[in-house]
Amino acid sequence: MAIDVKELKTIEHDVLVVGAGGAGLRAAIECSAQGLNTGVVTKSLLGKAHTVMAEGGMAAALGNVDRRDNWKIHFRDTMRGGKFLNNWRMAELHAKQAPDRVNELERWGAVFDRTPDGLINQRNFGGHRYPRLAHVGDRTGLELIRTLQDHGIHQGFSVYAEFCALDLLLDDGRVAGLVGYFRETGEFVVFKTKAVIFATGGGGKCWRVTSNSWEYTGDGFGLALRAGAELQDMEFTQFHPTGMVWPLSVRGILVTEGVRGEGGILLNNKGERFMFNYIPERFKSETADTEEEANRWLAGDKNARRPPELLTRDVVARAILAEVKAGRGSPKGGAFLDIASRRSAEDIKRKLPSMYHQFKVLAELDITQEPMQVGPTLHYFMGGIRVDADSQMSSLPGLFACGECSAGLHGANRLGGNSLSDLIVFGRLAGLGAAEYIKGLEKTPAPSDEQIEAIVKEATAPLHRETGPNPFQVHDELQEIMGEHVGIVREGPSLEEGIQKLEGLREKVAAVKAHPSAQFNAGWNEALDLRNLLLTGLAVAKAAKMREESRGAHTRLDFEGEREEWGKANVVVRLGEDGGVEVRRVERPDPPEELSKIAYATLEELEGGNG
Ligand code: FUM
Repeated sequence: MAIDVKELKTIEHDVLVVGAGGAGLRAAIECSAQGLNTGVVTKSLLGKAHTVMAEGGMAAALGNVDRRDNWKIHFRDTMRGGKFLNNWRMAELHAKQAPDRVNELERWGAVFDRTPDGLINQRNFGGHRYPRLAHVGDRTGLELIRTLQDHGIHQGFSVYAEFCALDLLLDDGRVAGLVGYFRETGEFVVFKTKAVIFATGGGGKCWRVTSNSWEYTGDGFGLALRAGAELQDMEFTQFHPTGMVWPLSVRGILVTEGVRGEGGILLNNKGERFMFNYIPERFKSETADTEEEANRWLAGDKNARRPPELLTRDVVARAILAEVKAGRGSPKGGAFLDIASRRSAEDIKRKLPSMYHQFKVLAELDITQEPMQVGPTLHYFMGGIRVDADSQMSSLPGLFACGECSAGLHGANRLGGNSLSDLIVFGRLAGLGAAEYIKGLEKTPAPSDEQIEAIVKEATAPLHRETGPNPFQVHDELQEIMGEHVGIVREGPSLEEGIQKLEGLREKVAAVKAHPSAQFNAGWNEALDLRNLLLTGLAVAKAAKMREESRGAHTRLDFEGEREEWGKANVVVRLGEDGGVEVRRVERPDPPEELSKIAYATLEELEGGNG
């Protein structure tokens, strides 16, 4: 079928932001502030983003609740949580800039919970040494989105909702725009731009049990790879320890870590508080090893060590899995999470209103009276597009990435609460980076008609096929493979089997058929998402196979423990000539001495004042 490119709707912007969660909105606000003509496309409706699933708070060393906190301790916690595989510079920028970004949000109208003396309140979360999470009950992500939308709407950027990005356009190795379509009408649009910022989130929909909703199909990863950019750290996929396990229809929905931050405890079917048995050596000096000490911590004793339920997410998720495997799981295959016996009903409803409501409505359970049943759910990608720490530019000139779709800040495992602060710190830096890049451009890049035609042709192919696999079934097969071979714990031979099965899906994905109409066509949308899902799944599986050690969220049963040589390397992913996913090991530079000293310092050396 001939495509007349001149007939396609064409829109020009200096910069196009893809994704309208926290990172995308913050990037768009910054681009507008820098005087750029800015467009924002969102796959879903404005405001519907995975950002809202970061419920419990955003981490920033404000020191409002415990004066001993400061950026250095936040930096140290982030590095320890990420098992020292983090990008050092990104962890530094994040810890230093997060307090300013939180205060800025407050100036823009965010209504944070308060301490008795009127400061922004901060709660405890896993891996954070001090109460550090600025929060709004258990709806912090929602409040962040609301605030950025309210503020952003006055900054003059254009929003295109229910718009799906298909592929980037290039001119002489630089980004020149992007082609996509409106999901509702099927209308294609060519965006001609000088730069593109991806804030597309992760790819949780590669798995069946996930806190992610339908939009999260690894689009940013797929588009970046096809355009020639690189990904890194894709083996590090975070399973949040506490998702709902029952009813099955809502399996995977998040139960905020805020429940444990407010004192909730995990129990097995024998009523044992099992986390005491899973304290890793590295965290022993900072973790309570008796009920008595953990209770003193809950009562506010600042000298008591933190309860083991607040260990990092990788540790807690593996512990729940081990309890279930040993036959000590809850009736629905998880662990019990009990807040009812720890806090008054009034406190629970005030501090955790969404959790109270969620369980009441979805599971007919009153969490002020009974324990919840919870288990691990795929929540977050630590890996993503490989970017420069300061500018957030990828290896492809003109392509920037921020938030979950970019790699580096979180290393091998993200601390809860560090995602919301990541979005606002690096969303802003990506906006600044794009403005700087555009300033330096000698000419406006111009994409060729041939590229546009090829993208539209490939996208419409499923509509013209007589026969072919059903895209929903192929997605289901992909999730089955990822669940079986690329889960919380992994093993070489099984990973290899998974990779072979995923490779086997390549032909199917290329041959899927959809009902022949571009309007309101869920099957066609699914067919197009599949390309990105498959690349994402392959990138995770191949990187996981290459990393022969266990570190953070990546656990290899055949390679227990961290290996020194792997602490010095990232796995980098790119697309090969034949469209296949290629992985390679890339050595990391030595850490800056000053930062290394902070990361390995004792708490006593760092405490006191935000210096
Ligand atoms: O548990 C939570 O509220 C999630 C927070 C996060 O992922 O940062």
